[in-house]
Amino acid sequence: MRAIVLEQFGPIDNLKEAEVPIPVPSAGEVLIKISAVSVNPIDYKTRQGKGANNWTSFVLPEILGWDLSGTVVALGADVTEWKVGDEVFGSIGFPGLGRVDAEYAVAQAGHLARKPSAIRHEEAAAASMAGLTAWQALTRLTRPERGQRVLVHAASGGVGHMAVQIAKAFGAHVTGTSSSANRDFVLSLGADAHIDYRSLGIEDYPHDFDFVFDPLGGDATFRSLDLVKKGGTVVSILPQHGPRIFAEAAAKGVAFDFVLMQSRSDDMGEVAKLLADGAIRPRIAKTFPLSELGQAHALLETGRTAGKIVLTV
Ligand SMILES: NC(=O)c1ccc[n+]([C@@H]2O[C@H](COP(=O)([O-])OP(=O)(O)OC[C@H]3O[C@@H](n4cnc5c(N)ncnc54)[C@H](OP(=O)(O)O)[C@@H]3O)[C@@H](O)[C@H]2O)c1
Repeated sequence: MRAIVLEQFGPIDNLKEAEVPIPVPSAGEVLIKISAVSVNPIDYKTRQGKGANNWTSFVLPEILGWDLSGTVVALGADVTEWKVGDEVFGSIGFPGLGRVDAEYAVAQAGHLARKPSAIRHEEAAAASMAGLTAWQALTRLTRPERGQRVLVHAASGGVGHMAVQIAKAFGAHVTGTSSSANRDFVLSLGADAHIDYRSLGIEDYPHDFDFVFDPLGGDATFRSLDLVKKGGTVVSILPQHGPRIFAEAAAKGVAFDFVLMQSRSDDMGEVAKLLADGAIRPRIAKTFPLSELGQAHALLETGRTAGKIVLTV
């Protein structure tokens, strides 16, 4: 099969198109013929030798990527959840490797969800890691309730734009941040209010949120502890804070956690239900053919993507 293989950690040129054997599903796994994949910051961070390489030591050459949508074409032993011909999607293998930047991939049966018939493979791939991360972060400690005030930093990004829509589906009052260029996009997702982070310092944001979703990390995480009411919740998806953030949160009476996405069918299925109902929909900013994976990495690395970048296979 055709795949994009990372030969050495480093720049985009280290991603090379190659012919490699089609993987064989082991017990509990299925083989998927891939229709679309999407890229996430973890893809380029891992390519650079950071990202998943920080916790999963793997030997190059390797195939990167986690988000896929496609069709089950073979089953390993003991798979009862899926049959050949099922259309499935998900962010697979995480926090290990997913190996989806290829024509075929094997996935654990318990990492997939059924692709809703109303959405295209490109949309399903786009909603995978972004939707699953947003879902797990918005439900891990507590789930924002109807009318509660939720702040989503980086609301125009891959994860943020899913978080805005999921929080709205819960009935929350949502404020999203982005630059002014993405204001209309953030409001189009259903956000009730917008903050331009370039013209208002984070210390001047309202301080009455019940829940802050933080895909920024660093200083923004610490400052977010001051933006929630006592008893409120801050969930970050950037692991840059060490134990000090937990101590500060406890001292302020704020519930805090860091969420590292976990591949799992039940949560992916919850995202699938919202997609099927039309309650959430990923925005595809740009589509490339798989052969142009390097260009997809380059575009995502600008940090300016509004929505998701997808590749068709
Ligand atoms: N823990 C996990 O399991 C997990 C899972 C997925 C992602 N992540 C991490 O979460 C982060 C976000 O991922 P992503 O896919 O959403 O990235 P992304 O799509 O590349 O995010 C780009 C967006 O961020 C916005 N942005 C940049 N700086 C901002 C700031 N200071 N304030 C508000 N908005 C800002 C940009 O809006 P403007 O252009 O308008 O500035 C842009 O729309 C990455 O670091 C990623 O590695 C973690």
